[in-house]
Amino acid sequence: MRILLMGPPGAGKGTQAEALAEKLGVPHIATGDIFRSQIAAGTALGKKAKEYTESGRLVPDEVTIGMVSERLKESDCQRGFILDGFPRTVAQAEALDQILAQAGQKLDAAIDIRVPDQKIIERLTGRRVCRQCGVTYHLVFNPPQRPGICDACGGELYQRSDDNEATVKNRLEVYRRQTAPLIDYYRAKGLLRPVNGDAPIDAVLSAIEQILGRDAG
Ligand code: AP5
Ligand code: MG
Ligand code: ZN
Repeated sequence: MRILLMGPPGAGKGTQAEALAEKLGVPHIATGDIFRSQIAAGTALGKKAKEYTESGRLVPDEVTIGMVSERLKESDCQRGFILDGFPRTVAQAEALDQILAQAGQKLDAAIDIRVPDQKIIERLTGRRVCRQCGVTYHLVFNPPQRPGICDACGGELYQRSDDNEATVKNRLEVYRRQTAPLIDYYRAKGLLRPVNGDAPIDAVLSAIEQILGRDAG
């Protein structure tokens, strides 16, 4: 299956993508995660992305599209993928259509996870991420067993540099202006599948699985 997970910052794209990727046996491709690991490794791509991700602005389309286009050529993507946080502009969506058309492939669904704005700040300021394996926690909604330590690998949990209130507000504004238009883009293609993201993590996962089951059947 070839699936997009869309939605505002903190909607739960990463949380759901991680679970779905494991169940479906396809890779989870998150552009934000790739940028953060390139920044941590100090690569040329990381140097280009750093000022954008830290202020909550979008990395320029040509950088992001080139990166995703290379990633989708890898052999693990041939059976499908879950894209998380890409596309985020109409130009990125059009580029993805072209990449897939050239490979004779098509998207199965664009899942739009909906969460009201007032919930987002709480979700993002309470988020903690494992430095080692990337698993995501929440201090209240999904706490680790031992404070500050990853259940999965024992790694150290940290707070993302863009998860402070001021930067989250900026990310929401950028989402509204540049990414929300994709809702109409995928609705027009008959691929949009809205899901209520303001529910417990397991309930959101079941709702997505139901939709995918229907689409596959
Ligand atoms: P990115 O990393 O994609 O950030 P984002 O879109 O702002 O989304 P988040 O990762 O913050 O939220 P999420 O929806 O994954 O939520 P999560 O599951 O973690 O992008 C970062 C930056 O990279 C961008 O600002 C930009 O600069 C750059 N970038 C990335 N892609 C780009 C692109 N295509 N083009 C250009 N630039 C790009 O959940 C959040 C918290 O809530 C967690 O703590 C979680 O435990 C908790 N939670 C999750 N679900 C629930 C639930 N149902 N109930 C209660 N709590 C929940
Ligand atoms: Mg994420
Ligand atoms: Zn870990």
